[in-house]
Amino acid sequence: MVKEHQIIAGNFELAGRASSDLKRYLKSLNSYPRPFISRVCSASYEAEINVVIHSVGGYMTYEINDNQIELDFYDDGPGILDIEQAMLKGFSTANQIAHINGFGAGMGLNNMYELSNKLTIHSSHRGTHIKMFFEVGERDA
Ligand SMILES: Nc1ncnc2c1ncn2[C@@H]1O[C@H](COP(=O)(O)OP(=O)(O)O)[C@@H](O)[C@H]1O
Ligand SMILES: [Mg+2]
Repeated sequence: MVKEHQIIAGNFELAGRASSDLKRYLKSLNSYPRPFISRVCSASYEAEINVVIHSVGGYMTYEINDNQIELDFYDDGPGILDIEQAMLKGFSTANQIAHINGFGAGMGLNNMYELSNKLTIHSSHRGTHIKMFFEVGERDA
Protein backbone atom coordinates (compact mmCIF):
# COMPACT_ATOMS: atom_id res chain seq x y z
CA MET A 1 0.00 0.00 0.00
CA VAL A 2 1.42 3.37 -1.00
CA LYS A 3 0.22 6.72 0.31
CA GLU A 4 1.26 10.18 -0.76
CA HIS A 5 1.45 13.47 1.13
CA GLN A 6 2.23 16.91 -0.24
CA ILE A 7 4.83 19.10 1.50
CA ILE A 8 4.65 22.85 0.98
CA ALA A 9 7.84 24.93 1.03
CA GLY A 10 8.08 27.68 3.62
CA ASN A 11 4.78 26.78 5.28
CA PHE A 12 5.62 26.55 8.98
CA GLU A 13 1.99 26.11 9.94
CA LEU A 14 1.71 22.83 8.05
CA ALA A 15 5.31 21.74 8.64
CA GLY A 16 5.30 18.30 10.23
CA ARG A 17 1.75 17.49 9.19
CA ALA A 18 2.72 14.64 6.86
CA SER A 19 4.76 12.99 9.62
CA SER A 20 2.07 13.39 12.26
CA ASP A 21 -0.50 11.90 9.87
CA LEU A 22 1.86 8.99 9.31
CA LYS A 23 2.28 8.58 13.07
CA ARG A 24 -1.47 8.53 13.65
CA TYR A 25 -1.90 5.98 10.89
CA LEU A 26 0.87 3.69 12.16
CA LYS A 27 -0.56 3.80 15.68
CA SER A 28 -4.02 2.94 14.35
CA LEU A 29 -2.67 -0.24 12.76
CA ASN A 30 -1.83 -1.58 16.23
CA SER A 31 0.91 -3.73 14.78
CA TYR A 32 4.12 -1.79 15.46
CA PRO A 33 6.01 -1.27 18.74
CA ARG A 34 5.92 2.34 19.99
CA PRO A 35 9.72 2.79 19.77
CA PHE A 36 9.59 1.73 16.12
CA ILE A 37 6.85 4.24 15.33
CA SER A 38 8.83 6.99 17.10
CA ARG A 39 11.95 6.12 15.15
CA VAL A 40 10.14 6.15 11.79
CA CYS A 41 8.27 9.37 12.52
CA SER A 42 11.27 11.26 13.91
CA ALA A 43 13.18 10.47 10.74
CA SER A 44 10.15 11.37 8.66
CA TYR A 45 9.83 14.69 10.50
CA GLU A 46 13.47 15.62 9.79
CA ALA A 47 13.07 14.82 6.10
CA GLU A 48 9.77 16.68 5.90
CA ILE A 49 11.17 19.79 7.59
CA ASN A 50 14.08 19.76 5.16
CA VAL A 51 11.66 19.89 2.24
CA VAL A 52 9.86 22.80 3.95
CA ILE A 53 12.96 24.86 4.76
CA HIS A 54 15.47 23.92 2.06
CA SER A 55 13.43 23.21 -1.08
CA VAL A 56 10.78 24.71 -3.31
CA GLY A 57 8.38 21.96 -2.22
CA GLY A 58 7.69 18.32 -2.79
CA TYR A 59 5.95 15.30 -1.41
CA MET A 60 6.47 12.15 0.57
CA THR A 61 5.24 8.66 -0.04
CA TYR A 62 5.16 5.76 2.34
CA GLU A 63 4.83 2.10 1.70
CA ILE A 64 4.02 -0.30 4.50
CA ASN A 65 4.65 -4.03 4.30
CA ASP A 66 4.42 -6.26 7.39
CA ASN A 67 7.47 -5.33 9.47
CA GLN A 68 8.99 -2.98 6.91
CA ILE A 69 8.32 0.62 6.00
CA GLU A 70 9.76 2.66 3.16
CA LEU A 71 9.60 6.45 3.14
CA ASP A 72 10.43 8.50 0.07
CA PHE A 73 10.80 12.27 -0.01
CA TYR A 74 10.93 14.05 -3.35
CA ASP A 75 11.36 17.74 -3.96
CA ASP A 76 11.93 19.98 -6.97
CA GLY A 77 15.22 21.56 -5.99
CA PRO A 78 17.52 23.36 -5.61
CA GLY A 79 19.22 20.17 -4.41
CA ILE A 80 22.03 19.44 -1.98
CA LEU A 81 25.30 20.86 -3.26
CA ASP A 82 27.63 18.50 -1.39
CA ILE A 83 25.97 15.51 0.26
CA GLU A 84 29.03 14.53 2.31
CA GLN A 85 29.27 18.02 3.77
CA ALA A 86 25.50 18.13 4.37
CA MET A 87 25.75 14.91 6.40
CA LEU A 88 28.22 16.48 8.84
CA LYS A 89 26.80 17.11 12.31
CA GLY A 90 26.05 20.81 12.71
CA PHE A 91 26.34 21.71 9.03
CA SER A 92 23.41 23.87 7.98
CA THR A 93 22.54 26.38 5.30
CA ALA A 94 19.19 27.15 6.97
CA ASN A 95 18.16 30.80 6.64
CA GLN A 96 17.07 33.21 9.35
CA ILE A 97 13.38 32.42 8.96
CA ALA A 98 14.08 28.72 9.52
CA HIS A 99 16.14 29.59 12.62
CA ILE A 100 13.40 31.81 14.02
CA ASN A 101 11.05 28.84 13.66
CA GLY A 102 13.43 26.64 15.61
CA PHE A 103 15.05 24.74 12.74
CA GLY A 104 18.55 24.62 11.35
CA ALA A 105 20.62 22.79 13.98
CA GLY A 106 22.26 20.78 11.22
CA MET A 107 21.41 17.40 12.74
CA GLY A 108 18.59 16.27 10.46
CA LEU A 109 20.43 14.17 7.90
CA ASN A 110 22.54 12.65 10.64
CA ASN A 111 19.46 11.74 12.63
CA MET A 112 17.85 10.21 9.54
CA TYR A 113 20.95 8.10 9.04
CA GLU A 114 20.94 6.92 12.67
CA LEU A 115 17.18 6.34 12.90
CA SER A 116 16.67 4.46 9.64
CA ASN A 117 17.91 1.01 8.72
CA LYS A 118 18.93 2.33 5.32
CA LEU A 119 19.21 5.85 3.93
CA THR A 120 19.92 6.80 0.35
CA ILE A 121 20.18 10.33 -1.00
CA HIS A 122 20.06 11.35 -4.63
CA SER A 123 20.30 15.02 -5.40
CA SER A 124 20.87 17.39 -8.29
CA HIS A 125 19.86 20.99 -8.98
CA ARG A 126 16.55 19.55 -10.22
CA GLY A 127 15.69 18.05 -6.86
CA THR A 128 16.40 15.70 -4.03
CA HIS A 129 15.16 12.19 -3.42
CA ILE A 130 15.61 10.77 0.08
CA LYS A 131 14.76 7.14 0.57
CA MET A 132 14.58 5.63 4.03
CA PHE A 133 13.95 2.06 4.91
CA PHE A 134 12.87 0.79 8.35
CA GLU A 135 12.57 -2.70 9.72
CA VAL A 136 11.34 -3.68 13.16
CA GLY A 137 14.33 -4.98 15.09
CA GLU A 138 16.05 -5.37 18.44
CA ARG A 139 16.32 -1.62 19.05
CA ASP A 140 12.53 -1.33 18.91
CA ALA A 141 11.88 -3.62 21.86
N1 LIG B 1 15.68 18.66 0.65
C1 LIG B 1 16.79 19.41 0.66
N2 LIG B 1 17.02 20.27 -0.36
C2 LIG B 1 18.14 21.03 -0.39
N3 LIG B 1 19.10 21.02 0.57
C3 LIG B 1 18.91 20.18 1.62
C4 LIG B 1 17.76 19.35 1.73
N4 LIG B 1 17.87 18.61 2.86
C5 LIG B 1 19.04 18.98 3.42
N5 LIG B 1 19.66 19.93 2.69
C6 LIG B 1 20.99 20.56 2.96
O1 LIG B 1 21.66 19.76 3.93
C7 LIG B 1 21.96 20.56 5.08
C8 LIG B 1 21.91 19.70 6.33
O2 LIG B 1 20.57 19.24 6.57
P1 LIG B 1 20.16 18.87 8.06
O3 LIG B 1 21.18 17.93 8.60
O4 LIG B 1 18.75 18.42 8.05
O5 LIG B 1 20.32 20.24 8.83
P2 LIG B 1 19.37 21.53 8.86
O6 LIG B 1 18.08 21.16 8.19
O7 LIG B 1 19.20 21.82 10.32
O8 LIG B 1 20.09 22.60 8.11
C9 LIG B 1 20.93 21.67 5.04
O9 LIG B 1 21.33 22.80 5.78
C10 LIG B 1 20.86 21.95 3.55
O10 LIG B 1 21.98 22.69 3.11
MG1 LIG C 1 17.07 19.49 8.68
